[in-house]
Amino acid sequence: MPRHLLNPMDFSVEELDKLMDLAGDIERNPDKYAHACDRKTLATCFYEPSTRTRLSFEGAMYHLGGHVIGFASADSSSASKGESVSDTIRIISCYADICAMRHPKEGAPLVASLKSRIPVINAGDGGHQHPTQTLTDLLTIRSLKGHLDNITIGLCGDLKFGRTVHSLIEALSRYENVRFVLISPPELRVPGYITEMLDHKNLQYREMQNLEEAIPTLDILYMTRVQRERFFNEDDYIRMKDFYILTKEKMKLAREDMLVLHPLPRVNEISVEVDDDPRAVYFRQAQYGMYIRMALILTLLGLEVQ
Ligand code: NCD
Repeated sequence: MPRHLLNPMDFSVEELDKLMDLAGDIERNPDKYAHACDRKTLATCFYEPSTRTRLSFEGAMYHLGGHVIGFASADSSSASKGESVSDTIRIISCYADICAMRHPKEGAPLVASLKSRIPVINAGDGGHQHPTQTLTDLLTIRSLKGHLDNITIGLCGDLKFGRTVHSLIEALSRYENVRFVLISPPELRVPGYITEMLDHKNLQYREMQNLEEAIPTLDILYMTRVQRERFFNEDDYIRMKDFYILTKEKMKLAREDMLVLHPLPRVNEISVEVDDDPRAVYFRQAQYGMYIRMALILTLLGLEVQ
């Protein structure tokens, strides 16, 4: 049976540590891994737009010496003719060794995994989860802060539809002494299953609306975009879209060592003037995304490099 990555909880904390160690080794010694995936093929099946996730997966496979096939939109696949993901993955299983799938419907990669002969990676399913962004976020925090425990993290913006937020909270809930500050307008609060999980584990969290009030208490500020494509009507989106804008002025309220992360794409929620602040690490975060995906491909394919 192939091993899949559908949810960040599919890997234990120890396995995540090993994955991040491997990503670090890949970053330091790229030549050692340049042929690790010779004659292996990754399929990228993207039914929704993507820049970073798809291209970092493809870049990852090329840097490992492998091949890439796939499609970048539902229109250019047989989904537009009505084919189900179950049928599509059976076909992809004949052509590739591993598949990264993004889909607008929650649970589609899970459905695919049930019929797949190859590992399926959830590259984002609707407003649900985005485990490989979480791997990227964890590696960024661990690399730049040195630890994943004992942190206060503020997650700000669209916490309702932001799948990266859901996956990151779940993953961080397993580390010691992590405090969550959930900053959103009331309409965009995290889904109930997330707060229930936090309550169930007796973890420290606070839901609030005011970013300025939260900033001084944070070690990490994780900004997110309002997820326009998941809104039922445009007026609600327009009302919400500029609710939070991180500016140079607001950064003055933050600690000297607070890090600003963002899964990207950014729309308006971080002013470009913040980009030059050494605490703004969202572009470095995207770079870590490729190394962790290289580590993930190797791990799910069961390949070891000596
Ligand atoms: C995120 C996503 O697709 O959920 N993007 C990404 O993969 N880095 C965040 C977003 O689209 O806002």
